Amino acid sequence: MFTIGLESSCDETACAVLKDQKILSNIVASQTIHASYGGVIPELASRAHLHSFPEIVLNALDTAGISLEDIDLIAVTQTPGLIGALSVGVNFARGLSIGAKKQLIGVNHVEAHVYAATLSTQESIPFPALGLAVSGAHTTAFLMKDPLSYQLIGQSLDDAIGETFDKVARFLGLPYPGGRLLEELALKGDPDAFPFHAARVTGHNFSFSGLKTAVLYAIKGKNSSHATPLPELSGEEKSNLSASFQRAAFATIAQKIPTIVKEFSCKAILIGGGVANNRYFRNLLAQTTSLPLYFASPELCSDNAAMIAALGQDLFKTGKSSTNISPCARYHWQPALPS
Ligand code: KG4
Ligand code: ZN
Repeated sequence: MFTIGLESSCDETACAVLKDQKILSNIVASQTIHASYGGVIPELASRAHLHSFPEIVLNALDTAGISLEDIDLIAVTQTPGLIGALSVGVNFARGLSIGAKKQLIGVNHVEAHVYAATLSTQESIPFPALGLAVSGAHTTAFLMKDPLSYQLIGQSLDDAIGETFDKVARFLGLPYPGGRLLEELALKGDPDAFPFHAARVTGHNFSFSGLKTAVLYAIKGKNSSHATPLPELSGEEKSNLSASFQRAAFATIAQKIPTIVKEFSCKAILIGGGVANNRYFRNLLAQTTSLPLYFASPELCSDNAAMIAALGQDLFKTGKSSTNISPCARYHWQPALPS
């Protein structure tokens, strides 16, 4: 079965072609236009998707060595994300589906981030499992009774972890998106130089916005205001701030894992999303739990369409599909009940 995947929920225009679950092509065009603004400008993202899709889709088909006629299924991200950006992808996919008379399925982007971990292993993953999506827009914990079921255990009540990395990176003068560069700076720093910690919140939820403000105050001084300019920092100060922030950001996730695993009888942990690339995080999780860890491979961590095609195809085969699709900015998952 040949599946084409389309992704446009934020600032990556992506298209992938899969033969069954084998990735034949995986093309991602990251929009560079947002870097000078320090964050994604939704209107510019929509326009860039509209401009890029035709070329990206042709490129993905060409690289896979097949034509649109060979495709059996079109899978597209329909939720959650920037509504304008999602609308471009969904309508492009609809056009392809009507024009080429192909089946169409809508896919949840955050679930696909976690599902990407299943593509990155040959092992048979034991379930129930804890699924973690750690990305620029989401910090979400799921109970997965199987690879296609996603019930909500907890999520960030304010900023997402990747968003927090990008904001702190900005305070340190790093270009957007600064998560990876912050991790590099942290390698040379002392994680205990600043006593940062994330706010404690109810249940299995997370909060990162107070941690971000604590870093800002550590840089500007306690009585600073919005108007206080960011001071020049030495290389050592930047490294220490990065290492201390990174320790606190990941500690708040790691600390919750043993309780979640016990409460929901999890037998494995699946992790995806751009922040899952972080080596410190990978090592910390390995020290936190003895359960098998399944990380999405680096090319499938950040936004891509291979994860969309793969999840869409699996959903389609099991009949759990949503073929009546429309873009939706927010998605509310069913809460998980303890075992
Ligand atoms: O999954 P993704 O491509 O986009 C969303 O779905 O939001 O994740 C992008 C996020 C950005 O915030 C980026 O700074 C962060 O992932 N990121 C990292 C690392 N690599 C990417 N954050 C921390 N450490 C990294 N190594
Ligand atoms: Zn994403």
